[in-house]
Amino acid sequence: MEPSKIESSSGPAGVVSPVHIEVEGLRFNRGERPIFRDVSCGFLRDRINVILGGSGSGKTTLLRMLGCLLRPDSGAIRVDDDLDLTRLGSSEIKAYRRHVGMMFQGGALLDSMSVFDNAALPLREHSPLDEAEIAREIRHVFDSVGLDGVDDLLPAELSGGMKKRAALARALVTAPDILLCDEPFSGLDPATVRLVESLLVDVNERLGVTMVIASHHVASTFRMAGRIVLLVEGEALSGAPDAFRDHADPRVEEFFAGDLV
Ligand SMILES: Nc1ncnc2c1ncn2[C@@H]1O[C@H](COP(=O)(O)OP(=O)(O)OP(=O)(O)O)[C@@H](O)[C@H]1O
Ligand SMILES: [Mg+2]
Repeated sequence: MEPSKIESSSGPAGVVSPVHIEVEGLRFNRGERPIFRDVSCGFLRDRINVILGGSGSGKTTLLRMLGCLLRPDSGAIRVDDDLDLTRLGSSEIKAYRRHVGMMFQGGALLDSMSVFDNAALPLREHSPLDEAEIAREIRHVFDSVGLDGVDDLLPAELSGGMKKRAALARALVTAPDILLCDEPFSGLDPATVRLVESLLVDVNERLGVTMVIASHHVASTFRMAGRIVLLVEGEALSGAPDAFRDHADPRVEEFFAGDLV
């Protein structure tokens, strides 16, 4: 079945924002169980793209595919029109991942390492920078996410909001073109959700990075997304937030259950 799509441009008036990552016809089974039957959608360059969907709908799975951590059974994921992630060899995957920052579900900071060392890890592993240069980069990225005076703390000593900042800093430290964030608002109180949300919007505007965020948080999605991709029944419905507000697809109605803002 052709996935019904809510297509709409969401850039400034008259300008269609270019698609940075085009996903076409993904199929993916876990054992006998189909997770993706036919997922097609586009993620807009330098904008905030939010993947919504019920628990188990495949948001993390799709993010993992965009990060080249998981390959679909079939279909294509084209970055910048030509690089098909589903066809890359291991050295090409490594090269691609250098341009991608990832903030995993739960933050996934290493508990035994200080906040500074957590953030330094990607640079120590993937860059030729020496320790003084690394420290400079980290100062810069910590400033940009509002982290101060926490270098020597362990992740367990941080509040939930600070942990998200530290995870974001670690994801941004290599200056990625694409930032994948899995549930950046989970476990946060409403005020901290607003803080992390403004931080993501601010980082997106200042750094011009293409963000793909998996989230359950409908209100923040409608405030910050340039494009929404809703995963339902193994397919994707995608478009600008307004297209979802105006849409009468029963699957959209069912997911939002009157929660559209
Ligand atoms: N390693 C795995 N082995 C088998 N099945 C898996 C595995 N990882 C995920 N799944 C299944 O794939 C489906 C999609 O999972 P996924 O984690 O992508 O959903 P999600 O939308 O991110 O859910 P949540 O909102 O709870 O984070 C689920 O049904 C899940 O049970
Ligand atoms: Mg998930």
